[in-house]
Amino acid sequence: MAQDLTPAQVLFHNTRTDLYLTIRGKIYDASGFLEEHPGGEELLLDLAGRDATEAYDDAGHSEEADEILGDMLIGQLLTSADAAPMSQIGESTKATNIALKVKEAANNVTVKVKEVVVGAIKPSTRTSQPFLVPTAFRETELIEKTAISHNVSMYYSPVHDFSSHMLTSVRQSYRFKLPLPDVTLGLPIGQHVSIGAELPQTDGTLKEFVRSYTPLSDDEPGSFRLLIKSYPTGNISKHIGLLNLGDSIRIRGPKGAFQYRTNMVRHFGMVAGGTGITPMLQIIEAVHQGRQLGDKTQIDLVFANVAAEDILLKGRLDELAKMDDGFRVHYVLDKPPPGWSGGTGYVTGEMIAKWLPKPAKDVRILLCGPPPMVGSLKKITEALGFDRASPVSKSEDQVFAF
Ligand SMILES: Cc1cc2nc3c(=O)[nH]c(=O)nc-3n(C[C@H](O)[C@H](O)[C@H](O)COP(=O)(O)OP(=O)(O)OC[C@H]3O[C@@H](n4cnc5c(N)ncnc54)[C@H](O)[C@@H]3O)c2cc1C
Ligand code: HEM
Repeated sequence: MAQDLTPAQVLFHNTRTDLYLTIRGKIYDASGFLEEHPGGEELLLDLAGRDATEAYDDAGHSEEADEILGDMLIGQLLTSADAAPMSQIGESTKATNIALKVKEAANNVTVKVKEVVVGAIKPSTRTSQPFLVPTAFRETELIEKTAISHNVSMYYSPVHDFSSHMLTSVRQSYRFKLPLPDVTLGLPIGQHVSIGAELPQTDGTLKEFVRSYTPLSDDEPGSFRLLIKSYPTGNISKHIGLLNLGDSIRIRGPKGAFQYRTNMVRHFGMVAGGTGITPMLQIIEAVHQGRQLGDKTQIDLVFANVAAEDILLKGRLDELAKMDDGFRVHYVLDKPPPGWSGGTGYVTGEMIAKWLPKPAKDVRILLCGPPPMVGSLKKITEALGFDRASPVSKSEDQVFAF
């Protein structure tokens, strides 16, 4: 039965078991879909009871996602208490039905990938085309894998076996092959790619997961590189950690609400945690390369890690700070070695006030790191006078979380 509600009434449906979202004036019941959502449940919980139109569109959902959404439709959003419903509403949501559609969507995506990849390999005019497509996954083969942390160990099974486990998290650099030597990934600065995989579950079923990753910008045509920290309990990161050379992954993009343009702001304040450095480095490199062409952007980066040996890409960051007057890096360690002169503990309001620019119209704060760190920094920056960060960042936000 149709349930037409006002935005204020929808807001009450904001719990795990009773979760409504509105998209383009329609109300959807997403309870029962949380665990199935390939983009993760957090994103849906963050928007519970509220308008998700922009977030849904920004994530670049496929037609299959739209179909699943259709099954969740329960009513129209009323603009005023007496507004009439605009159309008939379909049947109420059934979790099993939706789960089936998610699987179908995953299967369809796989089929599409094969079509696209065959087309891309043909030696035709496509050579100058970017590899990425926002709406479909494409396959790319792992051709190089380099461990970049020495203090951790990992158990690889000789065959691809998900029962194998990592003893601890491990960071590695991965190079993937593009279909032709002069094909580029085609990723605007500040954007990222999605990696999707269907992973076996304990009940024997397959479930699709999709996560974001930022390629390093030191790439030449014909391949691209990712720096990934694999968590023992992770899904996509663990899957990638267990790949053998010659195995493929599925990627799509470009993704993300943020895109860097020369001199778009006077000063960036960045805070990165762990692998959250990857989108920041992309922007820092672009600003540095644009100096001769008049890029005057100032950048202060706070880079937080647990221990000194965890600091990724430190050599390159220090080199950039030395070469470029407009870029400064401030390291923070939770467990610093004796004699450490940088920041210690978690990133605090005092550190932000000391190292990052003060709030102003032409200043932006960029955040990327583990969700608890980003959550805490959104509160800290608000307390320091920056605009309140949105739950899902929009391109114009003063405090933007990747
Ligand atoms: C814009 C953007 C760019 C990103 N770029 C990169 C990148 O270049 N390289 C990269 O490695 N990651 C990057 N990430 C993070 C990445 O998207 C995933 O969140 C991460 O790999 C974990 O995904 P998962 O599927 O393995 O784990 P999930 O399925 O998301 O989580 C499952 C479990 O894994 C463990 N876990 C997951 N994340 C953490 C964590 N941060 N700390 C401790 N335990 C954790 C927890 O036990 C968690 O319950 C980026 C994220 C964003 C938003
Ligand atoms: C209830 C409505 C929603 C449905 C039915 C839905 C469905 C899906 C599906 C099927 C996918 C797999 C990829 C695809 O087919 O596009 C996906 C991925 C994803 N979704 Fe949603 N989604 C919903 C809401 C949202 C919202 C509100 C957000 C907020 C940001 C979001 C963010 C994402 C992200 C980030 C991914 C990973 C996609 C990528 O980066 O490629 N989704 N979703």
